[in-house]
This record gives sequence, C-alpha cells and structure tokens, in this order.
Amino acid sequence: MNAPHRLYIETVGCQMNMLDSEMVVASLRQRGYELTGSPAQADTILFNTCSVREQAENKTYSALGRLKQEKLLHPEKIVGVMGCMAQKDQRLIFQKAPFVDLVVGPGQLQQIPDLIEKARREGGQHTALSLGRRDGAVNDIKRSHETFDPLRDPTMRPTPFQAFLRIQIGCDKFCTYCIVPMTRGPEQGRPPSQVLDEARILAEQGCKEITLLGQTVNSYQFRDGEQTTRLADLLCQLDAISGIERIKFVTNYPKDMTYDLLSAVRDLPKVSPYLHVPLQSGSDDVLKRMKRGYTVSDYRDMMARINETLGAQAAVSSDFIVGFCGETEAEFQASVDMIKECRFKNSFIFKYSERPGTRASDHLPDDVPFEIKKRRNNELLAVQNQISEDDNQAFLGRNVDVLVEGPSKKADSDAQLTGAPVQLTGRTHCDRIVVFDGNQRLIGQTIPIGIYDVTAHTLMGTVVTHESSSEYISLA
Ligand code: 5AD
Ligand code: SF4
Repeated sequence: MNAPHRLYIETVGCQMNMLDSEMVVASLRQRGYELTGSPAQADTILFNTCSVREQAENKTYSALGRLKQEKLLHPEKIVGVMGCMAQKDQRLIFQKAPFVDLVVGPGQLQQIPDLIEKARREGGQHTALSLGRRDGAVNDIKRSHETFDPLRDPTMRPTPFQAFLRIQIGCDKFCTYCIVPMTRGPEQGRPPSQVLDEARILAEQGCKEITLLGQTVNSYQFRDGEQTTRLADLLCQLDAISGIERIKFVTNYPKDMTYDLLSAVRDLPKVSPYLHVPLQSGSDDVLKRMKRGYTVSDYRDMMARINETLGAQAAVSSDFIVGFCGETEAEFQASVDMIKECRFKNSFIFKYSERPGTRASDHLPDDVPFEIKKRRNNELLAVQNQISEDDNQAFLGRNVDVLVEGPSKKADSDAQLTGAPVQLTGRTHCDRIVVFDGNQRLIGQTIPIGIYDVTAHTLMGTVVTHESSSEYISLA
C-alpha cells in the first residue's frame, strides 16, 4: 500500500473559515490523507485565507514567502491557496507567489481533492473560482457559490463536543467597507432538513454545543413553496435534538433581531442568551456612509427589544470599525457613547482597512491617518474593557454553569500528562470565559462553578461541590 499523503493546513479568519477547513480535511481524509503539523513533513500544503482586512492578507503572503524555499527544494509538494483571498485576488496570487499550484475560492472547495490530484499528475497551475457578483444571472452566481458539503471531521473542531454548523452562506447587505459579499457571493439559506440532519449527526458524535454560522445569521430564511422557515423556527427544531445542550448563532444583523427570534431565545432552554450584533459605529452619518441600513435609533430599539424579552440574562456583544472614511472626532465619540450606553459584554474593534473591490474603496477616500485609527482603537477598547470588568463584578459570589472545554493556556503541561488537576477553561451559557482548577475528567461536562474573582475577559472560580452547592443560584 502507498504511504498516505500528508496534509498541512493553516487557517486564518472567521469561524466560517474554520468550518471550511474542517470540511476540506474531511474530504481529503476520505482519499487517505493524514494531517501533519509542519509544512516540512507535508506533501500538500493549504492556506485557508481571509480578505476582510489587509493585515490578514499580508499574513498569508508572508507565510507563502516563507514557503518558497521549501517548494524550491521539493517541487513535488502541492501548495494551494483557498478561501476569500483566493476568490478576491484570483490569478494575482500566481503573480505574487509563482510557486502556488492551486487557487480555490470558498464556493469551490469541493473541487480541492480532484484539483490536487490533477496538479500532482499534470503539473501546472489550477484555479476553481465562483462567479463575481456581476458575472451572470443571479441563480448562476448562487449555484457557483454552493458548497454545502456535509462532510465533517471531528479532529478539526474547537473541541470534540463543540461544532460549527453553517445555515447560511454569502451576504446581500453590501456594507460599503466589506469584501464578503464579493468573496462569498449571494445570501443563501440552507434547507432546514439538511441543517437538522447534520445537527443530529453531530449530536450522535458527542457534540453538546452547536454554533450556527451565517454572515447575517438572523436574516436566515428558506422558502419551500408556501412555507418559509426562519431562524426562530430552526432553533425550535434544533432545541428538540437530544444530546445537544447549547445552541449559539453568529453573526447577527441588528434590524433582523425580531421579537419572534428573541422570544425563541427566551423560551428555548438550550439557546444561549448570547447575541453578537455588530453596531459598527455610533454615528448616523458614519452608518450611512457604511450603508449599514439602520440608524442608531434603530439599534437602540433593538436593545430595548432585547431587554424587554431577555432582561439581565442577555449578553450582547458588538463589532466596531474606527477610522472609517471621513470619521470625525465627534463621530468617533458617538461610538464611545454607544459603548457606554449599551454596555456590551465585549466588543471586537477594528481599524478600517480599505478593501479594493468594495464601494468604499471606489467612492470614499481612506482619509483617517493610521495613528488616529490606532489611538481611537485603543481608546474604544479601554472604554469597553472597563465596562466588561465592571459588569463582570455582578458574578462575584455567584455560581455559573460552565461547559468545560479543556486545559487553559496556563495549564501545567506535566500535570496534563499525569492526569493531575490542572487549570481548566470553559464558557457560561452567555459565552463568558471561566477558568478554574479541576480534574481533567471534567472536560466535556457542564458543571457549576463558583466565581470568586473577575477581570474584563475572564471569570475565575472553583468547582462547586455538593456541600457548597446548597445556595446554588444559576446566573448564566
Ligand atoms: N476594515 C476593518 N474592519 C472590517 N470589518 C469588515 N470589513 C472591514 C474592513 N474593511 C469588520 C467588521 C465586521 C468584522 C467581521 O470585521 O466590524 O463585523
Ligand atoms: Fe460584510 Fe455587512 Fe455582510 Fe456583515 S452584513 S458580511 S459587514 S456586508
């Protein structure tokens, strides 16, 4: 028998990319591939790439640069670039890194196994790309982005008991700064029956937590004749699957956070009251330039709906872009004010990065100097961190239910080998990170942890024993 092929895969970017990598690995395993942790030991090297900010692309081009020598010494190794940068830069990648063999967009990943074989057999450079947003009839464009490959690979998951599950691909919102509608194509909801089948398989494989993925996941809909399935309906059906304990969904679009959906979150015990709903800016003028399709007042209304339906148990987080085209100091201050007003659990803050191919790149100058973007980023983060730390104080002295994910980054590696107690990490139902000392047997279980200290991003606790659990109050 031939020695198995060895695959090295490097993934950057969002959870969608992590899931895409899982599927590519699963399809290559079917052809007898094994995973390896180093490019030197691999005969196939894949980069799953991101185009959302320039920095992510630079990272991939640097990684490719470092690989050049390896490929010169071993020209038989196959090097592939997949994901959003492949779709965006297309043959430009061959110009920048001429030793690359494959360029495969995120809508064409099912072609990877055959393309690798072809490149090995025939040599040459190969591409598999989806149609651009103006390159044909909508249905043809949609079809060219379909990669709902149900193949899964448990070894590629965040943990053996947590999995991503795609319910939607693409995006039709066309925010002016964003490249995603171009790289991932039109918004398409996946048929509910497929989603449910996949969730059942994941549950059978021991998955306790499922995170539903979509670019605007709460805009999900699937039409079948007269019947339209929305996210609230899907959550209801997923909640009934035994074995699944927690269901999350990211990322949300503010205007589609309806009462129906929030009521489903409230009424379905497995659905996490964690809502990631990016605001992006606290200024109406900036939101308009971003073409986000809502005003600050719309967002406030959404926060009111969340508070009304879910109350204090809800944890809302956001994304912000600082230094977007023409952002004045006053417009930036409006973002600071909204962070203070909404008291997000956490915010992901990004410096605006101009993306060729977007409307902002074509029509609006990237005129906020880098130093100012940096200062605004730090300032916004400091305000958010203070709020996160202050709000986490509410957990002091309380017990929270934690799904234990594994040893923390600080865990003693010798102790991990001997099976002695180590520092473990996990998350509450509302996505707060908790660390505590415990036996490694606890990994994969949901257990109560008593919280005795907090920082902005972490709750510190101890395992609640039977004796100490008489005053058990579950907060999250
Ligand atoms: N520059 C900076 N941040 C961006 N994001 C999307 N496009 C850009 C860009 N061009 C951010 C948004 C989005 C998150 C995933 O990335 O905040 O919500
Ligand atoms: Fe990009 Fe806007 Fe779509 Fe989100 S909603 S993926 S930011 S275009």
